[in-house]
Amino acid sequence: MLRAAAWGRWGLFHPCTGLSVRMTSSGIAEKGVLANQVAVITGSTNGIGLAIARRLAQDGAHVVVSSRKQQNVDRAVAMLQGEGLSVTGTVCHVGKAEDRERLVATALEHSGSVDFLVCNAGVNPLVGSTLGASEQVWDKILGVNVKAPALLLSLLLPHMENRRGAVILVSSIAAYMPQVELGAYNVSKTALLGLTRTLALELAPRDIRVNCLVPGFIDTDFSKVLCKNKAFFKNLKENVGLQRIGQPEDCAGLVSFLCSPDASYITGENIAVSGFSCRL
Ligand SMILES: NC(=O)c1ccc[n+]([C@@H]2O[C@H](COP(=O)([O-])OP(=O)(O)OC[C@H]3O[C@@H](n4cnc5c(N)ncnc54)[C@H](OP(=O)(O)O)[C@@H]3O)[C@@H](O)[C@H]2O)c1
Repeated sequence: MLRAAAWGRWGLFHPCTGLSVRMTSSGIAEKGVLANQVAVITGSTNGIGLAIARRLAQDGAHVVVSSRKQQNVDRAVAMLQGEGLSVTGTVCHVGKAEDRERLVATALEHSGSVDFLVCNAGVNPLVGSTLGASEQVWDKILGVNVKAPALLLSLLLPHMENRRGAVILVSSIAAYMPQVELGAYNVSKTALLGLTRTLALELAPRDIRVNCLVPGFIDTDFSKVLCKNKAFFKNLKENVGLQRIGQPEDCAGLVSFLCSPDASYITGENIAVSGFSCRL
């Protein structure tokens, strides 16, 4: 009884079902808090995106994973389905219009509508200064990191109507604290904070909330290149209050919360998951 109550209070992962379980006041266990809802997640075959996909599926959503490479999609889908989770997937390079259309079509196959969009895919093809970036690099960074989330959302929006859905963009603490090594990437991640607030305003009349996950330094393939820069890494570790590098799973719970009814009055926010507080 006590154990069941603890699960209910904290929405803990239920080891037998593979789903997180919350209890009603009557004590009757319900399926996960995101049950009967569909989530589309870009860049979700590895790192932070994969952790978010697993968490939303554990919380009961049907999850559509995606990334550029078919073998990565196949691997992620097989792994998550092997854990008993409701997951499908397709290739989607978010910078390609035809891929965005295919992602929407795949998502609609499940139940004809979509509740959540998590725009996690992001790139940084250049470690170097802003003024050292070529036009091609600028186009790639802004195209994938900033334009693609807006273009994908505009395709999905007609299928998110009347569902009290949520959109989560993924920025970076580089948005608040630009790093010299990250030039144009810093700029793209700051732009996402503006995109979050603008979309929140535009979509509020449709009861769709838009918020932003702002990861700190998280242990993924993406951040490996920065780990090799000893001065950067030392400086970073010294400034992280919790004295550790984050794990992808540290980001996933916030996204689940922002999708859930518990966040029904939260929109236009950017929330850091960074082991320290990086703004007022
Ligand atoms: N790790 C950090 O410290 C950190 C900190 C702040 C913010 N972030 C942000 O968090 C997000 C995820 O980063 P991560 O560290 O989890 O990276 P990651 O471990 O390298 O994973 C990236 C994922 O995105 C996919 N992907 C890459 N380019 C894509 C594109 N153009 N279209 C669609 N999918 C694409 C990759 O699969 P394919 O190769 O198959 O495409 C992979 O599934 C990014 O937006 C990043 O800017 C990360």
